[in-house]
Amino acid sequence: MIMFKNMSKLCIALAISSSVCAASTGSEPLVAFGGDIAAIPGWYLQSTTKVPEEMHVLSAPGKDVSSWYRVGARGTVMAGLIENGVYNETDLFYSDNMESIADPSLFDAPWLYREEFTLNPSIGQYFTLKTHGITSKADIYLNGELIASSDQQQGSYGGHQYNLTEHVKEGVNCLLIRAFPTNYLRDFAQGFVDWNPYPADNGTGVWRNVEVSQTGAVSMSPFRILTNFSHPNPGPVKVIFRTELTNHESSGHQVLINGTVKRPDGSAAMEFSEAFELKSNEQKTVSMSVSIENPDIWWPALWGQQPLYTVQASTIIQKPQQLVSDSSIRQQFGIRHVSSKLNKFNDTEFAVNGEPFQVIGAGYGPDIFLRFDIERVQVIFAYMLDMGLNTVRLEGKQEHPELYDLADKMGMMVLAGWECCDKWEGWKYNHDAKGVKWDKSDYPVAKAAMLHEAEMMQSHASILGCLVGSDSWPDDQATEIYLGALKAMDWPNPIIASASKRGYPEALGPSGMKMDGPYDWVPPNYWYNDKEGAASGFGSELGAGVGTPEMGSLKKFMSDDELETLWKEPDADQYHMSRYDSQFYDRKIYNEALFARYGKPSSLEDYILKSQMADYEATRSQFEAYATRQNATRPATGVIYWMLNSAWPNLHWQLFDYYLTPMAAYFGTKVGARMEHVAYDYESHNIWLINHSLEKEGNRQIKVDFIDSNGKEISRATVKSNTRPHSSKVVASLDGIKKVKDIGFLRLTLSDPESKDVLSRSVYWLSPTTDVLDWSESDWYTTPVTKFAKYTKLEKLKPATLKASLHSLESSTDDGLTHAEVLLENKSAGPAVFIRLNALDALEGAEIAPLYCSDNYVTLWPKEQLRLTVAFEGDIQHTVVEISGRNVKKVTLKVSLKV
Ligand SMILES: *[C@@H]1O[C@H](CO)[C@@H](O)[C@H](O)[C@H]1NC(C)=O
Ligand SMILES: *[C@@H]1O[C@H](CO)[C@@H](O)[C@H](O)[C@H]1NC(C)=O
Ligand SMILES: *[C@@H]1O[C@H](CO)[C@@H](O)[C@H](O)[C@H]1NC(C)=O
Ligand SMILES: *[C@@H]1O[C@H](CO)[C@@H](O)[C@H](O)[C@H]1NC(C)=O
Ligand SMILES: *[C@@H]1O[C@H](CO)[C@@H](O)[C@H](O)[C@H]1NC(C)=O
Ligand SMILES: *[C@@H]1O[C@H](CO)[C@@H](O)[C@H](O)[C@H]1NC(C)=O
Ligand SMILES: *[C@@H]1O[C@H](CO)[C@@H](O)[C@H](O)[C@H]1NC(C)=O
Ligand SMILES: *[C@@H]1O[C@H](CO)[C@@H](O)[C@H](O)[C@H]1NC(C)=O
Repeated sequence: MIMFKNMSKLCIALAISSSVCAASTGSEPLVAFGGDIAAIPGWYLQSTTKVPEEMHVLSAPGKDVSSWYRVGARGTVMAGLIENGVYNETDLFYSDNMESIADPSLFDAPWLYREEFTLNPSIGQYFTLKTHGITSKADIYLNGELIASSDQQQGSYGGHQYNLTEHVKEGVNCLLIRAFPTNYLRDFAQGFVDWNPYPADNGTGVWRNVEVSQTGAVSMSPFRILTNFSHPNPGPVKVIFRTELTNHESSGHQVLINGTVKRPDGSAAMEFSEAFELKSNEQKTVSMSVSIENPDIWWPALWGQQPLYTVQASTIIQKPQQLVSDSSIRQQFGIRHVSSKLNKFNDTEFAVNGEPFQVIGAGYGPDIFLRFDIERVQVIFAYMLDMGLNTVRLEGKQEHPELYDLADKMGMMVLAGWECCDKWEGWKYNHDAKGVKWDKSDYPVAKAAMLHEAEMMQSHASILGCLVGSDSWPDDQATEIYLGALKAMDWPNPIIASASKRGYPEALGPSGMKMDGPYDWVPPNYWYNDKEGAASGFGSELGAGVGTPEMGSLKKFMSDDELETLWKEPDADQYHMSRYDSQFYDRKIYNEALFARYGKPSSLEDYILKSQMADYEATRSQFEAYATRQNATRPATGVIYWMLNSAWPNLHWQLFDYYLTPMAAYFGTKVGARMEHVAYDYESHNIWLINHSLEKEGNRQIKVDFIDSNGKEISRATVKSNTRPHSSKVVASLDGIKKVKDIGFLRLTLSDPESKDVLSRSVYWLSPTTDVLDWSESDWYTTPVTKFAKYTKLEKLKPATLKASLHSLESSTDDGLTHAEVLLENKSAGPAVFIRLNALDALEGAEIAPLYCSDNYVTLWPKEQLRLTVAFEGDIQHTVVEISGRNVKKVTLKVSLKV
């Protein structure tokens, strides 16, 4: 019994998956003592159309619902139906099956979530129901009585507490939730706007945990944690813990709050203990503090470690005898400081621990059915760090507490905020969005959402800021509500009006973030201009719209007909692009450029290979351009690639695909966002040295090698240099671009002349002429090109002979992955171009994902040798590595002994 109790607590604290927590048997109480809290471990799910009984009858314990669907602790209706095999995800995602498989009329009526559980109430014990958002809104019944109606329980983020004490019974209790259908234009839900087709249920249901807590006479809220730390200095740090105490009784109480703060290494560091008086039914905020000598400072991953302190406390009633009344959940916090300011160009600049922090990030997509898998998020964050990204933007996709715990642990900064368009931006002056305009009844819903999300995020070290608007900005009344809620929750981080420069509320001032596109294809030199989304200021969501999956993934979700259309009909609509009513339902702009620059595709394989090259160029140049201008006269202060990942199998707006297979867009980013790097500026032909590090020290050597398609040298140079932190500078200019006949290859290598370590190496394919943009014709999603660069020579390169071998490696870390190295050697006199490594299951041929490669899609110089490393789950004996490229024969490698 004690074991089970601890476990239910652990489920909240560590959020172990629902199946572990579902071990509840009928007779074990869900919560059993003051300070105990547990999530409802699972639900019986059914449509109201299938159930004739009234709610008060249905919510009485004892009704047989064994014929209903059984689902986990949290999940939308669609997620629950998939969990029960009513729908099959593979089938749903294939071709345009989503249009026909799930009948939307099934979701016109409310759905029921019902669960029975045991409680043992006694005198002096109080029970609270805690919701964290039910989509779109819900009626909540306990034991035949209405506890909360849908007037109050509204919105995907509407977290509320309801007093159950009067309604709980000894023995079996029954909770019943009626979740109402969702319309993204009418309800404060989690919508997808133009990202992808909508799930048939629009995300309706109990998508977040519902919890029951038991306390004594006095309960406490989770701590809000503040420090007086601003930048590293040797002094002590004061940490303040603030909690809301509630006295449930009409007699006064004296309580003692005692707590422990553990250091990151687990050693108990400090205890605190303080007495408070509560009057009859009083609710009040109290603060305690500790002073930490020699604090361990938390840094974003690129700059240092992520030491996390832990705080835990109990509220103890003193009389008539000492009794634990409530306990706080175990909370981790980091000592760090974030801030933002507007510079003289009205661009937002962030700082972390006093260091200017150039945001290099991407926009997160949740699962289309809002299923949440923390292991998947872990891979996503690991991929982001591998690519050199330091920030994830959640645009109204606030997810679960576990995401923030993980971000704290991994050093990933989070830019949270509300979503664009839909109901969230139904402002009178917003003529771009179709959301129903707000009226009086909407403000309390928004307030509850802001209070709840602020409370959830407040203590997390990873939070960089909160954007209270996206494409548009909140009106004055909503701004007042948002600011009030953030203040009430002791929000210590930047608050930004919106992600664009279209307008702002007086109370917040300009956002300092631009949203001027592009979202569709633009050439690499676009980023080196000074207009629209080019590299200056803070680009809150932008990119060349790339992210084409590789063949292995495409075949999983596209029919043969769709695949044929993909390369044969460049203007055709594609179901796996953005939603049907969006600007991005076809690949017209992308394909026009692709066909002109790389040549008309001769097959599906050829189309995909060309797309990969175009995607690589696109992401690399975007991240490089923003990096080169980090300390320009008008600095580039941040760039959020649109987007990081997709809610379902998709053809664009992603850096890896839905199956977690990385493609060329990933490796273009990984090169462009490197901590130390040399980059080629497509517009000025300058070569830049980039330094994002705080402490990588020493002299640097830059080698510039430029050859033609036969491998003949056009120019070469070696430069020595050094830089300051957060800065980039021109170190050379490319010689000989005019001498290129058809195509030239430029290799830039950055090394440490003392250790001889290569810090960055990358290769560009260049045409003698650059793409020409017509800036005056720019619109919100692209800038047209009037003359394209030409790379068609790539189709006729001389074949190169590549020697390749695969060897197992001892892993230097305990990441549980298999590590191997691939040795490549180009035996030819010309370059071996755009070589891709891919790992496959040796027997089934299935692609292995996640796959971590030190580099990929590499171009080798004549006679050059290159060593790449790969890491993946599984056994190397059962894995093969496939090597393919623009002008090499595809080969498959098995592991071999090193010679
Ligand atoms: C879904 O269907 C695919 C084939 O269409 C099958 O391979 C897979 O096992 C099914 N998944 C489930 C969970 O039944
Ligand atoms: C989902 O929301 C959209 C509006 O964004 C609405 O048109 C559609 O009818 C809704 N679907 C359901 C099943 O309610
Ligand atoms: C923070 O508070 C501590 C007291 O706990 C004090 O010693 C320290 O000087 C303060 N630091 C700053 C930067 O104010
Ligand atoms: C919760 O309900 C109980 C029983 O009615 C009551 O005694 C208590 O004061 C309530 N708590 C709050 C905070 O209102
Ligand atoms: C607080 O005091 C109680 C009762 O003395 C004790 O059981 C508990 O471990 C203490 N909690 C902390 C976090 O120190
Ligand atoms: C910055 O914004 C302010 C309004 O807060 C405006 O007065 C000022 O002209 C702007 N400066 C620039 C350089 O745009
Ligand atoms: C950026 O920093 C480099 C040195 O690290 C310096 O040479 C360059 O002038 C700076 N750029 C600007 C615009 O200040
Ligand atoms: C980057 O900046 C750091 C910190 O000043 C410096 O030690 C290092 O040498 C710089 N790196 C390069 C490549 O210049």
